[in-house]
Amino acid sequence: MRVEPAASVGGHIAVPGDKSISHRALLVGAIGEGATRVRGFGRSADTEATIGALRALGVTVHEDEIDLVRVEGVDLLGLRPPREAIDCGNSGTTLRLLAGILAGQDGRFELTGDESLRRRPVDRVAEPLVQMGARVETVEGRPPLAIEGGELRGIRYELPVASAQVKSCVLHAGLYAQGRTTVIEPLPTRDHTEIMLAAAGVRVARRPGRVSLGPPERLHLGAVQVPGDFSSAAPFVVAATLLPGSELTIHDVGLNPRRTGLLSVLGRMGARITAFHRRRSGGEPMGDLEVRSAELVATTVLPEEVPLLVDELPLFAVAAACARGESRVEGARELRVKETDRIETVTTSLRALGIRISARDDGFGVRGVPTRPRGGGMSSDGDHRIAMLGAVAGLVSREGVELEGAEAVAVSFPGFFELLDSVAQRS
Ligand code: S3P
Repeated sequence: MRVEPAASVGGHIAVPGDKSISHRALLVGAIGEGATRVRGFGRSADTEATIGALRALGVTVHEDEIDLVRVEGVDLLGLRPPREAIDCGNSGTTLRLLAGILAGQDGRFELTGDESLRRRPVDRVAEPLVQMGARVETVEGRPPLAIEGGELRGIRYELPVASAQVKSCVLHAGLYAQGRTTVIEPLPTRDHTEIMLAAAGVRVARRPGRVSLGPPERLHLGAVQVPGDFSSAAPFVVAATLLPGSELTIHDVGLNPRRTGLLSVLGRMGARITAFHRRRSGGEPMGDLEVRSAELVATTVLPEEVPLLVDELPLFAVAAACARGESRVEGARELRVKETDRIETVTTSLRALGIRISARDDGFGVRGVPTRPRGGGMSSDGDHRIAMLGAVAGLVSREGVELEGAEAVAVSFPGFFELLDSVAQRS
């Protein structure tokens, strides 16, 4: 696909429902009592992998509308082992969050995924689940992951990496464990699981740096309204900031502070982004964002900020390329175990577009100039966030970007290019 340069972006848009929250609504709904209606559901290849996994486990999921699904809960212990391995596709969230729930069920379950997912670490969830009493096998720390569930005991688990997926896996297993389960996190990570479980009636105790729960008698969600996905809004935020004369409003987007680190980082670089009409939906903060173009200066993203914009760091690199001065990302080694090694894929692709960027062990450095980058050819390597980086880089470039593997956007946002086209002003 060719992405031509744009003069500016403008208008009013909304993005599909949050992927992290959509996964959680499906999973918690499935082990809940009665039906759960998920409105504003973010349909994508990843969330469809969760629907497929739940169906394989015997759960009925009705897809009433593109953004409305209904899950018929089977109660806490009602999942049934399928004969074959459960395919989680490209979705690490499906595999890791489901693993915690399966650890509490009777039977043997196997979780696998596509080539990218089979390269990613799962020992980080196997280890605490084994401590809790489950039997877990991996292939040298990678999927397929086989789980034999049963009686679990609560543990106090200090996360070795700041990962919301690992935290969520342990909390899910905690729903089935005798005694309390406590997770201690080195840095704050997204808290959608805590919010979703509390909405389902679990008494979740939260203190700075730790969260704990005990086994509930039942879960009940009823209805969930999912806010727009901040990670899907982020490419539009960056494009509107970088293209002079842009004025873009993004409505009904999730503004959970554990997700919006990009707004703070862009803010100190000089961006002009205002959040208004702030409200809450099912415990999740949301609102509208108004973005106007601005000239940016360089900044450093610090290790403690990384979890708050972990999925937006590729886009940060594009913003940094157009900001005056040297920008850096530190303490982001986790990028190496995402859908691709994003330190590699970000630096390789942006370098091919004429941007001065260098990889470090745990991040990257960008030498920014406040002009349009040249453009050129790059590949997404099958990674949706890298495809989105290529699209934004194309819009803000002089010569456009020839983007191989653009279809990877469907992993989180199938209609991404149509929406981008509708806001790009090209004359
Ligand atoms: C997610 C957590 C993050 C994030 C991923 C979604 C989640 O992963 O990168 O896209 O929904 O919990 P880690 O927990 O591995 O950092």
